[in-house]
Amino acid sequence: MREKSLLTVSVLKADVGSIVGHHITHPKELEVATQQLENARKQGLIVDFRVTHCGDDLDLIMTHRMGENNAEIHRLAWETFKEVTEKVSKPLKLYAAGQDLLVESFSGNVKGMGPGAAELEFEERTSDPLIILLADKTSPGAWNLPLYKIFADPFNTSGLVFDPNLHGGFIFEVYDLHEDASVKLKCPEELYDLLALIGDPNRYIIRKVYRYDGLPAAASTTTKLSIIAGRYVGKDDPACILRAQHGLPAVGEILEAFSFPHLVPGWMRGSHHGPLMPVSVNDSQNKCTRFDGPPRVVALGFQLCDGKLIGPADLFDDPAFEYTRAKANEIAEYIRRNGPFIPHRVGSAEMEYTTLKEVLDKLKNRFSK
Ligand code: 13P
Ligand code: 13P
Ligand code: MG
Ligand code: MG
Repeated sequence: MREKSLLTVSVLKADVGSIVGHHITHPKELEVATQQLENARKQGLIVDFRVTHCGDDLDLIMTHRMGENNAEIHRLAWETFKEVTEKVSKPLKLYAAGQDLLVESFSGNVKGMGPGAAELEFEERTSDPLIILLADKTSPGAWNLPLYKIFADPFNTSGLVFDPNLHGGFIFEVYDLHEDASVKLKCPEELYDLLALIGDPNRYIIRKVYRYDGLPAAASTTTKLSIIAGRYVGKDDPACILRAQHGLPAVGEILEAFSFPHLVPGWMRGSHHGPLMPVSVNDSQNKCTRFDGPPRVVALGFQLCDGKLIGPADLFDDPAFEYTRAKANEIAEYIRRNGPFIPHRVGSAEMEYTTLKEVLDKLKNRFSK
């Protein structure tokens, strides 16, 4: 039985239309979504919420006492995305209106229906710092490398060495997208097994992280729209929830993992590798223009107060990340010069769900042995 006192943080996200092309959400989309969630808060379904965006992805951050995978919470998010699509995206003819809503009507859980969901249920600590990561122009496996660094790499997280509460390590729940199955691996003991899997972020995705004693530490979205829909429908831009401090990695240890702009799949047409650039949530940085990118991530910090979200603090709004952004631009410039060639272009298996398939079908009868 679930304890009623437990708090759940749910981040549900979808791209339901943007201005211009796949660039950024329209302010009216945020307005309509805010209205919907404000009604739900007044009715007591949720404790608190924030509506925000990363590039063209609309993100609903909610706190409530209903647990993970709750039908009412998922319905609220689904109906909010529908309302935004009908009231704003379609009338304004925004680009790709309703892009991530793959089915007509809701059936109990957004899983498999298009929107992404990251959810974490836990007992609120005396002081509970929370970080919500939101990315655009990439896919859920983009968190594999930073989550590994945060929870398993002592060169990133010095607390793993110096804080006795972190010394016991962390348990990673890895989800196999192809098999729809997951495995729990305990680190540092099973570190090499973990890396053997998560080094392929197109298939294996870190879905949850727990401290060695079971304390919930992180949760990420695992939706892969292309696999659900069997064709290219956007790149499942992911979200991640992390708790920090006091026996968990510090806020700065979490952010430090993003000081290296690692290569992720996504970018133009969801078909190119590019560096993940940490940016401020401010409009000056939080929009993808060059070749629809490069991929980027924002980090919002909150303190939880009886379920209420105190914040956000815009965590990558720091000149200390300018070096990383410059490095990301340098990498973007280098890899862009490779044009439609691998490794800028993603591998053939990943291209399966794009328009490349139609090109191959057209040429099928012209191949000869
Ligand atoms: P806590 O153990 O309170 O999280 O402090 C660690 C810290 O803030 C290091 O930066
Ligand atoms: P989104 O997945 O952010 O909608 O981007 C799609 C795209 O094709 C960008 O070029
Ligand atoms: Mg889009
Ligand atoms: Mg997007």
